Amino acid sequence: MTSWAIAASESDVKEGKMKPLDIGGEKILLIRSGGELFAIENRCPHMNCPLQGGIIEDQSIKCPCHNWKFDLRTGAYVASDKIKVKVYETQVKDGKVSVLL
Ligand code: FES
Repeated sequence: MTSWAIAASESDVKEGKMKPLDIGGEKILLIRSGGELFAIENRCPHMNCPLQGGIIEDQSIKCPCHNWKFDLRTGAYVASDKIKVKVYETQVKDGKVSVLL
């Protein structure tokens, strides 16, 4: 079953910035890039490093550990779309960002 969980205030995540979240034990990274909000699992599928602190480039993030790059829209590793981080749907309402769990 899925449900929306309020994750942050919209103003908490400025352009080009990220905010790590723990929502009911799910480690999520909220990112704003190109004016869009993205929410991805805050764990790299390579060797489990947190993705927070990675480099945001356009609509992708580079893992801070070994530079694997993931598309923020799909979660796909750019070198192989068979490897993905989980992507969460987001919505903004009344200045609050919610994530679909
Ligand atoms: S742990 Fe992310 S690239 Fe190695």
